[in-house]
This record gives sequence, C-alpha cells and structure tokens, in this order.
Amino acid sequence: MAVLGVPELALVALVGVSGSGKSTFARRHFAPSQVLSSDAFRAMVADDENDQSASADAFDALHYVAGKRLRAGRLTVVDATNLQPHARAALVRVAREHDVLPVAIVLDVPEALAWARTEARADRTFGKQVLARMSRDLRRTYAQLAREGFRKVHVLRGVDEIDAAQIRFERLF
Ligand code: GTP
Ligand code: MG
Repeated sequence: MAVLGVPELALVALVGVSGSGKSTFARRHFAPSQVLSSDAFRAMVADDENDQSASADAFDALHYVAGKRLRAGRLTVVDATNLQPHARAALVRVAREHDVLPVAIVLDVPEALAWARTEARADRTFGKQVLARMSRDLRRTYAQLAREGFRKVHVLRGVDEIDAAQIRFERLF
C-alpha cells in the first residue's frame, strides 16, 4: 500500500487524464473546501463547467484563490488535468510566491478504462481523440515533472494502487 507523504501545508497538484479519478481521489482524501477544481471555476465564471473557452479566466480565478488560501496557511489541492507544462508551472509559481511546497500526485490508469468511464458520463462529451491526446501529454509529463520544481512527485499506477493509497500529512518543523 502506498503511503504518500504530503507536507501539511502544500499545494497539491493532481495530474491525470480525464476519467483517471482525480475528483474522486480528491473527495476521498481531502475536505471539499481544500479542493479547487477547474470545473467549478469554469462554472463560476461561465456557467458551464465544460466551457473550454472559459479556461483562461477560470484558471486566473483558481490561482488567485489558491494564493489566498496558501497565504493563510491552508493546504490546497488543485483538481485539474495539469497535463501541460505551463499549467503546472503556474501552480509551482503560486506555491513559491507563498513559500509553500508544491507536490504532484499523478493518477495513471489505462486509457481504455479512462475512456470507458468518460463515455459513461453525461457531463463529458468530448471524443476519444481528445482523451488519446491527454494520454500522450501524460506520457510526456513523466520526463518533465522531475525538473519542474515539485518537492515531491507521487505516481499511482492503476486502480488498485489508487484505491489503496493513503496520505500521511507531514509536519514541516
Ligand atoms: P475529469 O474531471 O474529467 O478530468 O475526470 P476525473 O479525473 O476527475 O475523474 P472522476 O474522479 O470524475 O472519475 C470519473 C468516473 O470514474 C466517475 O464516474 C467515477 O465515479 C469513476 N471512478 C473514479 N475513480 C474510481 C474508482 O476508483 N473506482 C471506480 N469504480 N470508479 C471510479
Ligand atoms: Mg474531475
């Protein structure tokens, strides 16, 4: 069973394709108020959690709130795919600006499973190609993550590892 060490004050970036189980993982391990999800911020700024054209404004707002939380010493989890280097760089920047450690937790499930889950959801309408692109981005991510400034990178491979994972909050001092 994987025990993931996470500093008690951290900015936790979940990383994974759509359908990898990020929101489910966040619900299981963190309080709702600790989790900032890109879906929720798209809905806030554009009334539609799937409106990709609202992403820039949604992430501006998400980073702003993350900064406020970190300044107040509150652990913050970012529930977004975080598959693009620039998306992760923005999170590392927010964490550094507030002297908080950025941590990445990667959820890696087989693409076929992620697709089956996505297809079954009424609130996801994109096609298989979009998911295939996310899977390619995830594979690239592995080579990049180590040198992006994350203090820790935890990788959970497959549903069993994801299911069994526990988080241990670590004191900083
Ligand atoms: P996006 O928000 O689209 O990026 O997806 P996500 O990574 O947040 O995935 P989410 O947690 O929403 O899970 C997608 C679907 O898979 C949901 O219908 C979940 O109920 C299901 N699911 C997620 N994790 C598990 C799991 O561990 N076991 C089972 N059986 N289903 C899961
Ligand atoms: Mg989600």
